Amino acid sequence: MIHFTVYRSTYRSTYRSALCSIPTTVAFLFLAVISVEAAEDKLPPPADVKVDFVKHIEPLLKKKCIRCHGPKKQKSKYRLDLQKDALKGGENGVAIVPGKSAESPLIQFVSGLDEDTRMPPSGDLLTAEQVGLLRAWIDQGAVWKVAKVEPPKVTGPKERTSLNAHEGGVVSVAFSSQGGALVSSGGDPRLLQAGKVKLWELESGKERLSIEGHASRVWSVALSPDGKTLATGGYDAMAKLWDADTGKEKAALKGHANWVTSLAFSPDGKTIATGSEDTTVKLWDVATGAEKATLKGHGGTVRTVAFSPTGDLLASASFDKTVKIWARTEGGTFEERATLKGHDDWVWSVAFSPDGKRLASAGSVGLVKIWNVPEGGAAEGFTEESTLRGHRNWITQIDFSPDSKLLASASFDRSVRLWDVAQRATLERFRGHEGTVWTVAFSPDGKRLASGSQDGTVKIWDVPKTRKVSRL
Ligand code: HEC
Repeated sequence: MIHFTVYRSTYRSTYRSALCSIPTTVAFLFLAVISVEAAEDKLPPPADVKVDFVKHIEPLLKKKCIRCHGPKKQKSKYRLDLQKDALKGGENGVAIVPGKSAESPLIQFVSGLDEDTRMPPSGDLLTAEQVGLLRAWIDQGAVWKVAKVEPPKVTGPKERTSLNAHEGGVVSVAFSSQGGALVSSGGDPRLLQAGKVKLWELESGKERLSIEGHASRVWSVALSPDGKTLATGGYDAMAKLWDADTGKEKAALKGHANWVTSLAFSPDGKTIATGSEDTTVKLWDVATGAEKATLKGHGGTVRTVAFSPTGDLLASASFDKTVKIWARTEGGTFEERATLKGHDDWVWSVAFSPDGKRLASAGSVGLVKIWNVPEGGAAEGFTEESTLRGHRNWITQIDFSPDSKLLASASFDRSVRLWDVAQRATLERFRGHEGTVWTVAFSPDGKRLASGSQDGTVKIWDVPKTRKVSRL
């Protein structure tokens, strides 16, 4: 006992001088060790449990120690919130000796054997149970296990296929009307690199054709109704027609003054419409590649063009915040019929439902508007029916299902949503893309969706068979 007192007082004064920041690590450790035998029987016994760091130790350190030995303060240069620092020790060296709790200075301090070295320095000491747990933890190897951070749960369907399609992002996809093939286009507009167009076999996911189509990003791609002609529109202000079997160029459609954002074949396959950043819509003869008409009227980029199922109407969505409806004339070209105002910001996409009864438009702000399409297409008959809300960022493209009941939308929020048009509700959210989703399309049988993203992939999704409405 006398021994112990002597050691203890020496130990205390050494520790004190250490606190006056004289590096006395060696002496400190030496004394800490020789005081062990004496202190051993004064320490609360180690707990008789299998210690779980996350459950037993971490909360205790957090509650009693971290405010002085954590990210904000490191008293005596000692941190207890990180494994590396906790095991390395502080100004006076190692405080935790794995496997040997009685020799660990930390245990002696928290046991409060010495008023001058107790931890925490003031207030309630740890209980005997808490010290026992710390001892058992150290005796069992001082295993430091960090609580696992669960990755955010991705609910909803997983993609069926993911194709690494275009390095600079996929901006347009389209199915062949027979359904066996899919075309995609992309390219990085920041690079002086040819933008590519690819044709894929749907079932095998095999690349059948790869065309270096335009000087830069190929913004738009479409297949003619008979599947024989591939049309592309690019950043280089041109549209091109290609033989879909061989990949040979058939015609270059020159006339736009700025990039071609979108294109669409008329249902009879004879005409192709192109929309451009030059604010016009142009009509071209597919057989000859000759320009047939230029439709002027928009006050901003025309982002999407779409024919009605009969081919009598043409819709154009523009960054001037409107959708224009153009009607076919006797002479075979189109003239302005109506201007749909309802969007407060850029309109990116427009689509007719295949039954010809509705029109959907969407864009910045993340809203989809559904419009009634009057029989005969009288201007005053285009009335707003509903607004679909859900996306958290701009909508880039929309497409109706073949049965006209569903709508798919792609967004800057990296998701694709599937909507029940009549119920005005989201049926599903498809998540998995790691960048803006630029484009989405239904397969002709309505069973699949293809989406293309800035992440470079084309993903194919199954359209769920059960259509339970949930308000997501
Ligand atoms: C209110 C602030 C405070 C709290 C809470 C606190 N400590 Fe300390 N700790 C200190 C100070 C100050 C020192 C320096 C010695 C001194 O002045 O007593 C120190 C030193 C230490 C040392 C020695 C480090 C070295 O190498 O010099 C250890 C080990 C230690 N504390 C462990 C703990 C543990 C374990 C807890 C929680 C049970 C704890 N401390 C809670 C303030 C605190």
